[in-house]
Amino acid sequence: MILVTGAAGFIGSNFVRYWREKSEEPLLLVDSLAYAGNAENLEGLSTQEGVSELIVADIGDKAKISDLLKKHMPRAVINFAAETHVDRSIMQPDRFMQANVVSLFELLESVRKYWADLDSKNRTSFRFVQISTDEVYGSLELSDPPFDENSRYAPNSPYSASKAAGDHFVRAYYHTYGLPTLITNCSNNYGPYQFPEKLIPLCIIKALELKPLPIYGDGLQIRDWLHVNDHCDALVRVLEQGVPGEVYNVGGNCEMENINLVRLICRILDDLSPRADKESYAELITFVEDRAGHDRRYAVDNQKIGRMLNWKPSRTIDVGLRETVDWYLQNQGWTEKVCGPAYKDWLAFQYGGKS
Ligand code: NAD
Ligand code: TYD
Repeated sequence: MILVTGAAGFIGSNFVRYWREKSEEPLLLVDSLAYAGNAENLEGLSTQEGVSELIVADIGDKAKISDLLKKHMPRAVINFAAETHVDRSIMQPDRFMQANVVSLFELLESVRKYWADLDSKNRTSFRFVQISTDEVYGSLELSDPPFDENSRYAPNSPYSASKAAGDHFVRAYYHTYGLPTLITNCSNNYGPYQFPEKLIPLCIIKALELKPLPIYGDGLQIRDWLHVNDHCDALVRVLEQGVPGEVYNVGGNCEMENINLVRLICRILDDLSPRADKESYAELITFVEDRAGHDRRYAVDNQKIGRMLNWKPSRTIDVGLRETVDWYLQNQGWTEKVCGPAYKDWLAFQYGGKS
């Protein structure tokens, strides 16, 4: 049994799906259903044998999490739960401090106490995997090599600062108590079930509504993109073969300027869902005010996880993005369900009513 926290989010729900295809080992799913978490992301899964109903709980709820641990005796916890959107973190940093630092700390405490009471064999084989981000390393110059596992933490946004603080606690629990923790720092994910506040789903959905596609600043910021299933493959390897106390960077070898990525989305849409007026979706691209403190470039070096766990990304961006755009085209009912009034209020707030 594995406890998956943050299971109703983008990567968590894809992980549950990925795991079910590879393994019969049961999963226990927990999520607080914060705004980006949606039970719809798990549709068709929680009725499958070996996948629990979603348990709605905050990872910081020590009583509830401790009870679950005692009752189900998982051999591992994989923690996806977090507040994750940089723009929100700029406007509501307190939520990020609470979820990514305070609640994570409480989760670590619950897990530490559960783990300490296990017999020695189960204590040795137990794993706590913390899903983190390449953003903890800060921003690269164009001429810099990608970040590796020894790069200095230098977070710039309230989001990345909260993730960095969380990582430090996870690391400290390994060094101080011996809790067998592992940390992964991954680059930007894309794929199905991503909440449409992040660049890729936001642009697909706005394009289909023929609304402006907002590009922050000059659009020349660089992100490294990885298909979510490749990330899930890396996480399974880290869980099963990773060495406790170690950090693994997970990158896609796919650095792109934002403007080129959005142009690619538009080309795919032109092909898969041509506009009635025969215009290209690219004419919706609109440069808007830059994000405060916008990091210029992220990229991580894959060599350690490649060498130690024999992992490499398998999908090219051309293939993966086409599949992703197609998924959003085929699943517009999902979008309507997850983009409720709170999401629309947020867009109005973010874009000053011009969404
Ligand atoms: P997401 O926002 O889609 O999902 C996060 C989930 O966590 C949501 O379902 C939310 O309800 C839940 N959650 C939030 N606070 C919680 C709490 N206190 N208790 C229980 N559940 C809580 O985000 P995602 O993209 O799936 O990211 C998952 C993890 O991967 C995060 O830790 C994120 O930092 C990390 N990550 C994401 C990316 C990316 O590109 N999306 C890249 C690298 C790392
Ligand atoms: P995002 O998907 O929010 O991920 P992150 O900030 O964690 O990298 O943004 C990806 C890039 O796209 C980032 O450089 C900000 C930029 N961006 C836009 O230009 N316009 C948008 O509307 C959004 C949401 C992001």
